[in-house]
Amino acid sequence: MNHKEIHIRYTEYENMQELSAEDRELASMAVEATVNSYAPYSEFHVGAAVRLTDGTAVTGANQENIAYPSGLCAERTAMFYAAAKYPDIPMETIAIAASSHGELCREPATPCGACRQVMAEYQTRGGKPISIILVGSRKIWKFSCVDDILPLIFDSLGKD
Ligand code: THU
Repeated sequence: MNHKEIHIRYTEYENMQELSAEDRELASMAVEATVNSYAPYSEFHVGAAVRLTDGTAVTGANQENIAYPSGLCAERTAMFYAAAKYPDIPMETIAIAASSHGELCREPATPCGACRQVMAEYQTRGGKPISIILVGSRKIWKFSCVDDILPLIFDSLGKD
């Protein structure tokens, strides 16, 4: 028997000013995108901004539906749009923010499992790590690849 451990690394920033200029811009886009959220049921407004390797940036926001499972998270809205419009350009960074009661949440909003799985697939497809920036008003977390928010990524198809 062997006990094993998996370590993840991330950087915590106190505020947006500590980010690089390009990360700050993407983080701001994610915060702005929360305004386009359609979330009458949860009233939890999430925004995401994806930067591609050529510098193009696209945004998305969560879209809810009265038939609950028909809605979609902000992260997947943004990533699916990016992949549908620019299929050959790898994704480099995704920034995510959430607001509730009209204010940016204090803690970083962490993506759901389904969104992490989709990030993992685009990371593999693009052939380079996707960084994740989680924006809270009190702190910001940056992960340098999807593996750090989704250890043991499912990639078993075709393997035995
Ligand atoms: N939501 C996101 O947009 N991203 C996530 O990673 C988790 C949750 C949305 C879905 C739903 O509209 C609302 O937040 C409450 O779950």
